[in-house]
Formats: sequence, structure tokens, C-alpha cells
Amino acid sequence: MTTVRFAVNGAPAEVDVSGSRRLLDVLREELALTGTKEGCGEGECGACSVLLDGALVDACLVPMCQVEGADIRTVEGLGRAVASGVPPTPDDLDALQRAFLETGGAQCGICTPGMLMAGHAFLASGTPPTDEAIREAIAGNLCRCTGYTKIVEAIALAATRTATFDA
Ligand code: FES
Ligand code: FES
Repeated sequence: MTTVRFAVNGAPAEVDVSGSRRLLDVLREELALTGTKEGCGEGECGACSVLLDGALVDACLVPMCQVEGADIRTVEGLGRAVASGVPPTPDDLDALQRAFLETGGAQCGICTPGMLMAGHAFLASGTPPTDEAIREAIAGNLCRCTGYTKIVEAIALAATRTATFDA
């Protein structure tokens, strides 16, 4: 067991875990941050995408030994935090979350947290939000429901508004 200290959504976190434990499991099981989803568990679907020091990573592939001192951002860190169990209103959401809502970019929602994190990484990169660039940015995130068009629309819409975390 190793003590790993890091930050999650701006708050300090400390867990005693095996260094090989996956960040995905620590987020969901130790920190109750269940917004991050598991799809494939093999780095193929992007459902578990989070930001690690601003870089998009698959949390299912990140061992905790690589998380020491890192700054982790999950879907729970977007928008304005609300008390546990209180459904967020559109006013609590950030620009990209609102854009997903407005364009219908989520159906079953399994891919949505990962898409949001990929979208944020794209917006933060400052890359001009062409359809092609957005599709490339979310190429590692699979959606079985929407066919991507509405997701691309949502990211493009958010790019015309605030393109950074606006909690
Ligand atoms: S669950 Fe991590 S990439 Fe699919
Ligand atoms: S909305 Fe269902 S997987 Fe994308």
C-alpha cells in the first residue's frame, strides 16, 4: 500500500492504495465520484476520460503511482458544484454542459462525461473549432447512441461561448 496525494476538482485527496490500482477505481470507489464511467476498461472507448494536469487520459489505464501530486479534473468538477443528491439545474452547468443539453448531445449518457472532458480539453487547446478538428478531438471517445453529430454541434456551440471551465 502506498499513500497517494493529489487534487481532484480543486480539492486535496489522499488515498492508501496499491500503486497499480487504477485511477478509475479510486475515483468511483474510494472518492464516490461515479460520474466517470467504465466502458471497455481497456483504453478503447473513452468513457472513463478525465483530465490529468490538463491532459485528457483514460482513467482505466492510469495506475495510482502516476497520480502522486497530479491535478485531476472529473465531470463533477465542471459547472457549479451542487450538494450531493440535489439535481443540477441548467444554471449550475458550465458552457459545454449547457450546449450538450441544448443540442441533445446526450442520450443514454454513458459516453457523456468522457465526451465532456474531451470537449473541454479541445476547447482549452484553442484549436479552431472546425467540424473536422472537433471530430478528431473526440476520436477516442465512442458513442453507441447519437452518431456524433449532436456532440460535435454541442462542442462547436460551446466554442462560440466560454471555452474554459466557468464554474
Ligand atoms: S473504460 Fe477506459 S477507455 Fe474504455
Ligand atoms: S449517449 Fe449513449 S453512448 Fe453516447
